[in-house]
Amino acid sequence: MIRRTKSLLRIVPVYFFLAWIPLVYMGCDYARMKDQESIRTYEAEPPEMPAGTIPISGGSEVLKNSKPEDLHNPLSGKQEVLERGRLAYGYFCIMCHGQNLDGNGTVGQSFAPLPTNLKIPYVRQQGDGRLFYKISYGYKRHPALASTVSEEDRWAILHYIRSVK
Ligand code: HEC
Repeated sequence: MIRRTKSLLRIVPVYFFLAWIPLVYMGCDYARMKDQESIRTYEAEPPEMPAGTIPISGGSEVLKNSKPEDLHNPLSGKQEVLERGRLAYGYFCIMCHGQNLDGNGTVGQSFAPLPTNLKIPYVRQQGDGRLFYKISYGYKRHPALASTVSEEDRWAILHYIRSVK
């Protein structure tokens, strides 16, 4: 009895070895991620657009080609928008214009002229479209922020700026 068990134990490794063979072959035949139905990068031709095509409603090109006076803030000044504007101001403007919007941000101090105080009438009297255009595409020493700050954040920031007394 003991002898039989011993010889059985001896062939167990052989079974284990043989069991791998079909697995290895099957593994080569399916479950390969490189053979699949999805369209791979560069496999399909991208649709061709006629030269000079620009979107006719919305889109950054349309904004950039518009007259600043024709741009209107699409957001309302409700609480969530103000909160979004406050957060975005904290990310993108505070380092130059400062915590109190007075132009005393730490980074801004190396600018000449200094960043504008955003609470003065000169700023407040300008329409949102004009201010949006200036911060988006640059103005005098102002950096163009269109590719840094999302369109919606820029409009929300303008609501926030106006809400700060
Ligand atoms: C890198 C520093 C910097 C950042 C970031 C910055 N500003 Fe300015 N900002 C300036 C400077 C400098 C001026 C003054 C520009 C000048 O008159 O040459 C200015 C001017 C302005 C003005 C007055 C424009 C006018 O009519 O003369 C507004 C409005 C303004 N910034 C809004 C913003 C808002 C909103 C943000 C964030 C989205 C922002 N800025 C981010 C530096 C900055």
